[in-house]
Amino acid sequence: MNGPILEVEHLVKEFPGGRRGEVVRAVDDVSFAVAEGEVLGLVGESGSGKSTTARCVMRLIEPTSGRITFEGNDLMDASRSRLKRLRRGMQMVFQDPYSSLDPRMRIEDVIAEGMVVHGTVRGAEARRARVAELLELVGLRQDHLRRRPSDFSGGERQRIGIARALAVDPRLLVCDEPVASLDVSIQAQILNLFKRLQRDLGLTIIFIAHDLATVRHLCDRVAVMSNGAIHEIGTREQIYSAPTSDYTRSLLAAMPVPDPEVERRKAAARRARLEPAGSAGEAGGGDAPTDGGGPTAADPRPSLPVSASGGAG
Ligand SMILES: Nc1ncnc2c1ncn2[C@@H]1O[C@H](COP(=O)(O)OP(=O)(O)OP(=O)(O)O)[C@@H](O)[C@H]1O
Ligand SMILES: [Mg+2]
Repeated sequence: MNGPILEVEHLVKEFPGGRRGEVVRAVDDVSFAVAEGEVLGLVGESGSGKSTTARCVMRLIEPTSGRITFEGNDLMDASRSRLKRLRRGMQMVFQDPYSSLDPRMRIEDVIAEGMVVHGTVRGAEARRARVAELLELVGLRQDHLRRRPSDFSGGERQRIGIARALAVDPRLLVCDEPVASLDVSIQAQILNLFKRLQRDLGLTIIFIAHDLATVRHLCDRVAVMSNGAIHEIGTREQIYSAPTSDYTRSLLAAMPVPDPEVERRKAAARRARLEPAGSAGEAGGGDAPTDGGGPTAADPRPSLPVSASGGAG
């Protein structure tokens, strides 16, 4: 295993927000490290502090205290300009691809934006060539370039979000529930895309999900969060086969046991409902289920929005 690309030590984030002026401790003394090239899953029920942790790591919000080190650089006392430079190495992919894309921009410009902001690729021609490469990388067609975000399906929009993040050649991707709002069979395609990108580009990924089913095939290690703290962190084998905490066990118990035949029928019914006959749907995305080992469109491991407390997740 490589050395850590990211180290988070005793991270705390408090929000003012209680009714009587008390603070909400959204992240409560969280420490973890991510090795270069590793995929770390961050799993926990709604409100457990996953997004706040991710946003602190990206320095999109100001941590209350703690230490964050990215590629040996202390992010906590980096100056503004230094932070901007360091941020190029770490990009975020959001849950709702539509809300994170400017609806008026053409896809070409959406994807190229980071290159302009960071000045990584100079000249419109060079940027266009790079965008074309990125489109191919995420399984979109070149004729998509001049369209706008509203012309795309949810899965395609997420591919655009991923291309946009990759445009500045990050080493670390922080993905906040990037498949949560997608249909199950599309989730499988996007998860396969992440897996392929991780392998081909040697990316390090923090992948946030509500439930353990979603991250099972993608992650090398999984951290289970609740109440702002990491309850348990371990390798995939440890977490799924020999969890030590009751909380992890309850999340595992809530995991659906996939029956490929049932899932195939469900997916077929869903497709029939969602896609007009003859529609290319999401299948043209270049994530043919050949990746092996992971979920496939034909055999998706469904993810349930799990809430350990039994409430709506
Ligand atoms: N800007 C904010 N102001 C006040 N409280 C906040 C803010 N952002 C988050 N919180 C609170 O912090 C806690 C953790 O929220 P967070 O969004 O990190 O959870 P999460 O695990 O990402 O949940 P979900 O799965 O629903 O996305 C919650 O109690 C939330 O209400
Ligand atoms: Mg969240």
